[in-house]
Amino acid sequence: MTTHFQGRISELSERLMDDTDSGVWDVHDRAVAMAERDEPVYLLSVGDPDLPTLPSTIRSAIDSLEKGRTHYAPGRGEINLRTTIANIETASSGKPCDPNEIVIFPGATNAIYSVLACLLNPGDDVVLAEPMYIGYEGILRALNVNKVSFDLDIGNGFAFDVEAVKAAITPKTRVVFINTPGNPAGNMLTQDQLRELAAFCLERNLWLVCDEVYSMITFEDTHVSLRRAAASLENVIVVDGLSKSHAMTGWRLGWTVCNTTMADRLLDFTSSTIFGCCQFVQDAAAFALSNDEEYIAGVRQEYRVRRDYVCERVAAISGLSCQVPKAGMFVMINVSAVAASGIDFAEELLDAESVSVLPGVGFGACCSDYVRVSLAQPINVLTPAFDRIERFLSR
Ligand SMILES: Cc1ncc(COP(=O)(O)O)c(C=O)c1O
Repeated sequence: MTTHFQGRISELSERLMDDTDSGVWDVHDRAVAMAERDEPVYLLSVGDPDLPTLPSTIRSAIDSLEKGRTHYAPGRGEINLRTTIANIETASSGKPCDPNEIVIFPGATNAIYSVLACLLNPGDDVVLAEPMYIGYEGILRALNVNKVSFDLDIGNGFAFDVEAVKAAITPKTRVVFINTPGNPAGNMLTQDQLRELAAFCLERNLWLVCDEVYSMITFEDTHVSLRRAAASLENVIVVDGLSKSHAMTGWRLGWTVCNTTMADRLLDFTSSTIFGCCQFVQDAAAFALSNDEEYIAGVRQEYRVRRDYVCERVAAISGLSCQVPKAGMFVMINVSAVAASGIDFAEELLDAESVSVLPGVGFGACCSDYVRVSLAQPINVLTPAFDRIERFLSR
């Protein structure tokens, strides 16, 4: 049947069709298709923790469902969860945090989208460091804002340089966006850097937004929150969530911490777009955050063992190199000595050995010679995967 329908889609939707990350997900998509066909494949390209959600958290969600907590929730989020988060914030920042400074979202991704939608007009500039989390790209494109990026100091553990932020500011900059601990590089900003950046942004009337979703997955150093470091919290917005720390990606639970005036703006936005998050998920989230000390220590230790294992294997393979990440769930491996690019390496590795890694270029052009390996696989998967990487390179 022929149709004459000529309805258009929006410019926003068209911008999201723009395939600027072409090639980055090809290897992963092919590997997932292989797994679906039950072919043996080693998926080191995933960012979804393999660890289980704490069983008592699952029990708490079931209890909540059985109590009938299946209705609309307050737009800002359930008071019990917001109080739990505010108390954690007060303790970690050393500054009093009120539950009305917290807004709950279905995941950090939605929280970041909402924050940036409330701060930016089309054409405004956002300053951020590369390599950066791939997910930011689509948000910036949807909002039609310009990414003004600078490179982390790759040779120096992907260190962050506050002076590079200052140099990147344009007359159109409204927001400086940071991510500590960082995906993909596992780098961390220091307390001094955060303090200086917050003061600089305040002086220049810029918002400073910080994604801290890996705050609990740190190894030698402890995470310093932007709210602890900043002398004034007026222009500071922190985003966090349970996806990574509590292996709860599918529960979709994140939040923002900011001043109450801005929280009211976020409430207006989320009331029009989300209309509240699941009650039972929020109940389980409050439970998880109140009963997680041992669990988080175990998660940290597990990723640390995996990180050490991967870094040792990389060091022993001629032609590969990496810097030991301080935090997070990933290791960036430099493949420039053995491949024309990270994309070539990843494609050929999958074809030859059924091991899937993510080309670094997806995180920024500065990482085109890198691939990202995920630690979201147990040692008994990492071991044969690295045996295969070794065999691939010895050919
Ligand atoms: C730095 C960073 N921020 C945000 C997210 C998304 O978190 P959520 O699952 O809460 O949307 C991810 C997921 O990989 C991430 O790496």
